[in-house]
Amino acid sequence: METKLFSRAQIDDAVKLLAAGELVAFPTETVYGLGALATNEQAVKNVYAAKGRPSDNPLIVTVADEKMMAKYAKEIPVRAQKLIEQFWPGPLTILLFVKPQSLPSAVTGGLDTVAFRCPDDPLTHELITKLGAPIVGPSANTSTKPSPTTAQHVYHDLKGKIAGILDNGATKVGLESTIIDLSVSTPVVLRPGAITPEELSEALGEQVLVNSGQVADKNVPKAPGMKYRHYAPSVPVVVVDHEQDFKQIDYDQTCGVMALNPVLDQIDLPAANKFSLGQNLKDADHNLFAGLRYFDDQSAITKIYVQGFSGSQATLAYMNRLNKAAANQHYLTK
Ligand code: TXA
Ligand code: MG
Repeated sequence: METKLFSRAQIDDAVKLLAAGELVAFPTETVYGLGALATNEQAVKNVYAAKGRPSDNPLIVTVADEKMMAKYAKEIPVRAQKLIEQFWPGPLTILLFVKPQSLPSAVTGGLDTVAFRCPDDPLTHELITKLGAPIVGPSANTSTKPSPTTAQHVYHDLKGKIAGILDNGATKVGLESTIIDLSVSTPVVLRPGAITPEELSEALGEQVLVNSGQVADKNVPKAPGMKYRHYAPSVPVVVVDHEQDFKQIDYDQTCGVMALNPVLDQIDLPAANKFSLGQNLKDADHNLFAGLRYFDDQSAITKIYVQGFSGSQATLAYMNRLNKAAANQHYLTK
């Protein structure tokens, strides 16, 4: 199959393909998603196949607005309304009870809940509005690999497996959306993202919980995706928590280093072995996945050292992804 790249001028071609049950990747403010008509069971099954994703890991349903969501949610509680008003369109995914029989069970992995997301991207908004129905939207990477933040990343992973990619340049945020579960009595953040627990608590006027464990009790995975290895290049990743440790590491030509500019400047390695995370945490969010992909594609690199951050809720999303990429391996200060 030829994988076509579509620009804004070709959006109608992308809509036609989706309506016919084909797979088309789409831009969002977080990462690129892999789209398929959410009401078409075969199309949804093809998404799992293209990504190599386990079938018990449910898919996000991407909507144009609250009105579209209302067709598939059993009810929209007041809490959801408050969050939608404040954060949509934007990097917040909301878990609600699904309206029975409104979506193929392949979307929800057989669960009684469904994750809704309304991305802040004008092209994708137009795409879904013209389609007139929601699209499923897992990240458009091969399962276990870092999420794609450019159309080229999507092409690298999925060329020949999907019909097209709608290109709107590099994504803004760079890490996937915050997921909040509103199907339980106390709201819980299942995956940290750009919108912090603090901001959610403030918007709701009550304390939200943060899911620290990978999987909920009774062996029922609450956010099934969290139990899988994720974001991982094929070589080991090591988190460096303290900036000064970058000077202690015994580097050789097979090491890759990802850090902020002032840290990189002090490291004596060829430019090709360094990848800049930028100037600050926001830049680092934006660049993390691109850096992991950069080194993953170089056969000479056998280890990647990546700067860690701490000290505020704003670091939660970055550290969540980095710890998974590193399988929790941290550099031990000498
Ligand atoms: O920013 C994002 O959310 C991106 C863009 C493309 O929208 N999408 C994304 O999708 O990250 P994905 O499939 O890579 O991650 C969605 C996570 C998975 O861990 C999945 O297990 C969880 O959401 N999820 C989806 N439906 C769920 C449900 N009904 N209950 C619990 N977890 C759910
Ligand atoms: Mg993903």
